[in-house]
Amino acid sequence: MNFSDIPVIAIDGPSASGKGTVAQRVARKLGFHYLDSGALYRLVALSAMRSKLDLADEGMLSDVAIRLDVVFEDAEIRLGNENVADAIRTERCSNAASRIAAYPQVRKALLARQRAFRCLPGLVADGRDMGSIVFPDAVLKIFLTASAQTRAQRRYKQLMEKGIDANISTLFQDIQERDARDSNRSAAPLHQDAGASLLNTTELDIGQAVDSVLNQYAEVCTKGHL
Ligand code: CDP
Repeated sequence: MNFSDIPVIAIDGPSASGKGTVAQRVARKLGFHYLDSGALYRLVALSAMRSKLDLADEGMLSDVAIRLDVVFEDAEIRLGNENVADAIRTERCSNAASRIAAYPQVRKALLARQRAFRCLPGLVADGRDMGSIVFPDAVLKIFLTASAQTRAQRRYKQLMEKGIDANISTLFQDIQERDARDSNRSAAPLHQDAGASLLNTTELDIGQAVDSVLNQYAEVCTKGHL
């Protein structure tokens, strides 16, 4: 069996678009593995901040990326012996992750780690460059987005549910800044890949977005691509 025979569904999109939730549910429905690539950038950011490293030191950060001692298991993300699933979601960590994700050396250091998630029976991967760089041969590529206002509201709700304090106007501003940084960087900028289909979820709930991805995947399968 060839690596390229293992189907990948790539779901890319901007911050807080809901791609993580949609990707996880699609993976669960299909019995596929799931890659949250953003978590890897967040983990590098968290490790670097804890070690008080200079977030401008690209070489040092790529070393951190190579050496990350991380295990993903169900809802847990274990860095060493500690579950950091919540610690990587703070706004401070989000901003640091977005900054360090602009470094080509860090992106390169995380490439093989991301590709290793491609296992039978298949993978759903979410991020910014899943369809363009990490899995260019993905059978289905989705660009999942929503208006910045809607995304700020969703992120606010998500943080509140986790008991993390947040301010909606600060979140809106952060999302716009992160969009600009993600879209304007030269290494793997956020954009809709030519082969990706647009899924705008401003007016859709999670269930409708999940159904849309599953329907598109079923169509790919019946067209004989798989
Ligand atoms: O939840 P949100 O979309 O804000 O973040 P995330 O998907 O967890 O990603 C965290 C940061 O990592 C983002 O700000 C992106 O800049 C970066 N990222 C990336 O550059 N490439 C990826 N494949 C995934 C995330």
